[in-house]
This record gives sequence, C-alpha cells and structure tokens, in this order.
Amino acid sequence: MSNVGLAEKFNNLTLESEDHWDYRGTNNSERDYVHGFCTYPAMMVPKMQREMLQVCLSEMPIPRSQLLDPFAGSGTILVEGMLQGLDVVGIDINPLAVLLCKVKTTIINVEMLKQHTAQLVTNIEQANNIPDYQFKGIEKWFTAQAISDLSKIRTAITQDENIEIRRFFWATFCEIVRMVSNSRDCTYKLHIKDAKDIKTYDKDAIALFKETLTFNVSKYNEFYSVLKQRGHIKRDGISYKGSVKVILSDCIVYLQHTKKKFDLIFTSPPYGDNHTTVSYGQYSVIPLRWINSKDIDESINENLLDTLYEIDNISLGGMSSNMYITRNKKNIVKKTETLKEQITTITEIAPKQVNKLISFYSDFDSFLSTISKKMKPTSVSVWTLGNRKVAKQEIYMNKIMIELGTRYNLSLLTSFTRKILNKRMPKINAYTGDEKDIQGTMTREHILIFVRSDPVNE
Ligand SMILES: C[S@@+](CC[C@H](N)C(=O)[O-])C[C@H]1O[C@@H](n2cnc3c(N)ncnc32)[C@H](O)[C@@H]1O
Repeated sequence: MSNVGLAEKFNNLTLESEDHWDYRGTNNSERDYVHGFCTYPAMMVPKMQREMLQVCLSEMPIPRSQLLDPFAGSGTILVEGMLQGLDVVGIDINPLAVLLCKVKTTIINVEMLKQHTAQLVTNIEQANNIPDYQFKGIEKWFTAQAISDLSKIRTAITQDENIEIRRFFWATFCEIVRMVSNSRDCTYKLHIKDAKDIKTYDKDAIALFKETLTFNVSKYNEFYSVLKQRGHIKRDGISYKGSVKVILSDCIVYLQHTKKKFDLIFTSPPYGDNHTTVSYGQYSVIPLRWINSKDIDESINENLLDTLYEIDNISLGGMSSNMYITRNKKNIVKKTETLKEQITTITEIAPKQVNKLISFYSDFDSFLSTISKKMKPTSVSVWTLGNRKVAKQEIYMNKIMIELGTRYNLSLLTSFTRKILNKRMPKINAYTGDEKDIQGTMTREHILIFVRSDPVNE
C-alpha cells in the first residue's frame, strides 16, 4: 500500500469538484442492492463508501483483505465489502442492527427464498383466529387494527422452519412495524403521534408487508446476481467465498478478546448522545419487541428490550454515573486539548450537559485504544464522523478524533467534508429544543482517513 498514492487519489477526487463527496441526485444517493431493506438511523451513503473502498483497494496489493466495521449499524460496509469479495466482520451492540447485518450478508438460494415468500403470503392470507400478540405498551404504540394485522404476519413468519429465511422476513417486518406504529416518523426518537392522526390511521400493514417483501426479494436477487457474476459465490450457490462474521456485542469487549487483526476499518461511530441525538436503541425497541429475539442471536439478553432506553444506555457514551464521570474526566481532558476547551465552555453555559460529553469521549478513547491494537502496520481506517451540537456549540469530533488518534499511532492521511443531504438526522438533532439549534445541526459529515504511524507495542 502506498500511503502517498492513497492520499493523492483521495485528494484528487476531493479537488475534482466542490461537491464530489456530496453524492447528490437520485442515482447517487440510491440505496441499491440490499441497502434499503429496512430503515436505520444515520445510515451511510452506500455509493460513497463504495467509492472510498475501491480507492483503498486500488492501493492495496492484498488479494483478500479483512474489513471491519465495529459500529456496523444496518450493514452498509459489510455489503460493500462483500461486493469487493473481502472478508468482512461487523459488530454492533443493537440487536436490530445485527439482524439487518445478518440478513444482508447471508447467501440464500433465490429460488428457495421465492418459494418460502409465496408460502408466507398464503399463510398470512389464510390466517384466521390469530390471537393478538401482546407486550408491554403495545396499545400505546399500535392501533387495534395494526395489532391484529401485525399479529397475523408475525405468526406466519414463526411458522417458517428456515432461520435464515425467517430473518429475511423479520427484517422486512420490522420496517412495516415502524411504518404502522403510532410513533411520528419525522424523528428517530419515539414520540407518540397526535390522537387525531392516530384516529385517521388507514395503513394496511398486510398490503404494505407484501409489497415491501416483493421489493426486498427482487433487491436481494440483484445483490446475489452481482456477487455471482463477480465470482464471489461458491459453486454450491449458497456460500460466500470469503468469510462473514456478524457479532452482537459491545465492540470494545469483542475487540479486546479477539486475536484477529484487520487490514481495513471503515466505520461511522455514534455521534455522542444516544438519548437526544440519534437514538439507535429507542428507534429499534418497538420493532424488536415484535420479533423472536432468539432468531437474531442466541446470546441476546432479552432484558435489553424491557425499557426503551436500555440499548442506548449500554451503547458508547451511555454510562453517566457520577463515579464513572469523576474517574474519567481528568484522564480524557489530558488527552485532547479541543475537548478540554469545549468542556470548559459547556461547563459555563450548560453544566448539566458536561457529563454526557465526558462519558462519550471516555468510551470513545477506550475504543480507539483497543482498536488501534487490532490494526496491522499497513492498515487504513476510514471514519465518517458527525459533529453534533451541545447547547448550540458544535463539538468538534473530527478534531478530537485526530488528537486522540495520535496517541494510538493513528496518523491522519487526509480528510474532507461533505454535505449531508438525505439524512433525517439534521432535522432531529434536538438538544435544547430550540428550532434554530435543530436546523443548524449536523448538516455536514467529516471523512477522516488514517494510517498507522508505527507498530503498536502489544
Ligand atoms: C452511526 S451508526 C452506524 C450506521 C452504519 N454505518 C450504517 O450505515 O447503517 C453507529 C452504530 O454504533 C452502534 N454502537 C453504539 N455503541 C456501540 C458499542 N459500544 N459497540 C458496538 N456498537 C455500538 C449503534 O448501535 C449504531 O448502530
């Protein structure tokens, strides 16, 4: 790998046109192949990650590289890695993310998928006297009609004996659960709709499910065909030639225990406050309550779904006990001058928000320390970062990352900024409740590319 060549390629593209990385236009921002299976907060733009991955690979002589996304979310990077024939590893703490990653990366015989889909549709249409499914809070989040329709679909899915196909159906089902729920769809947080909007509920969950399923099967077929065309599927027709690993875990915990090292890391970490910025957990709990969680992963802790907040609490930055904060504050401000200054400012204007910053960046620092030991001396890492606002102050995660990175032998090769055009995130990043603050938040993303400056001492 030539680092100079790599930097030059990225810089040439950045200079090519002012909006090269913005990925405007329907074709550019399209979620092709399996990328659009189910909405997930803060999804990356697949085609942009594809281009960046291709640039990295063009400078990499290794025929089969190990690609890791430690915050895999909906699996964008894993899918892109498979399209390039790489060995991919994805980790996420959120079971919904893990379901999506597994569904998108599992090779299923398309004819078999179509047969099971036809059977599922018949079973739903013939479903009679299906008891309404129950969980805590179901009546708040769904109308009686939605509960009845979703219960029929749910029961029919559980009747399929193939777990990989059930997962495919669950992923489609999760999207429909979100669509017909009483939660407003303009935010990733759970907010109940106005009563008058709930009363006028007219969505047909079964029709939506069938339509979405047909679409997803055709998209899966496209993905499968291109993998096959590129020679990434084995002769048996049901196995990927490389390896795929999807792990439900805190990535720090997993990485501390694995012996693996990675050639490429592509990721977008969370933004820094799960409860008020982009609530991955809250977004996922209601769909997850509808599905058989053991179908996602045998190791799942079902208590995670007891409250709307548990997943966010265990995610990066979710810990805010006084003991944790006191222990970590001194450490983290010693490591990054930018964060130190920002903490001083926030302490003056919004002291209550300070603990969240400390909690997030302490976790992020542990993560960087851990992941740097999992890189090879030639590893490249590509980070897509969003600078959120706290009390109207932009928190410069891009700068903080560079300062922390240098402590762990990560040296910045190049970076650029892009405008976010398609995400729901800018509109909903409410911190103060002030509309202006919401509008002005996270309209840009920072892409940082790092190489190793020298081997880490183990
Ligand atoms: C910005 S999202 C990733 C989105 C993804 N790039 C995509 O295209 O869908 C960040 C992800 O980090 C996950 N996450 C947060 N804390 C984590 C942790 N400690 N370990 C693993 N995953 C974590 C969240 O659940 C979320 O899915």
